[in-house]
Amino acid sequence: SALALLMILSAYLLGSISSAVIICRLFELDDPRLRGSGNPGTTNVYRLGGWTPALLTLLMDVLKGMLPVWLAYYFGLDPFILAWVAIAACLGHIYPLYFDFKGGKAVATALGAMFPIAWEMALLLIATWLLMFGMTRVSSLAALITVSLAPVYAFIIKPQYTVPAIMLAALIIWRHRHNIVRLCRGEEVSFRKR
Ligand code: G3P
Repeated sequence: SALALLMILSAYLLGSISSAVIICRLFELDDPRLRGSGNPGTTNVYRLGGWTPALLTLLMDVLKGMLPVWLAYYFGLDPFILAWVAIAACLGHIYPLYFDFKGGKAVATALGAMFPIAWEMALLLIATWLLMFGMTRVSSLAALITVSLAPVYAFIIKPQYTVPAIMLAALIIWRHRHNIVRLCRGEEVSFRKR
């Protein structure tokens, strides 16, 4: 329907707002695309400016996923469309229209999109990330393990979302390909206290 298309397009346009870049400008920090890992996301904003800008980035990126999916749900669109709204928001975050198509890895945005679909799943994903980060102290590794488990969680909690969860997981893992190379070489940056 026209509404469904409008929601998918709006999700992409909203997802395209690069929270990390905007927050770093507001806090007069370096461009996160040019420093640290080069990724415009919570982890890298933390490296550049600490907790406050990092948590604001996280909040904005989560909302970018949550708002459009919640609206689509409110409008009574079916699960297939909700899944595409979620994917569109993540594609916006990854390939942002207004930021030279150079975006992030969509971990936070995908998480946000989960809340209206299945809040239990969102909480489970947060718990998994926190546990994995606590064990490894490596943000990318925690994200990779968490998104890999997302299709399993979806299959158990909301089976109709298993395929979209696999698609999103594949997208997010692909975006972590440089992290994966660093992890394999033992060169990935960790937050372990020295
Ligand atoms: O969500 C991004 C995180 O998984 C990795 O970020 O900056 O370490 O590549 P970064």
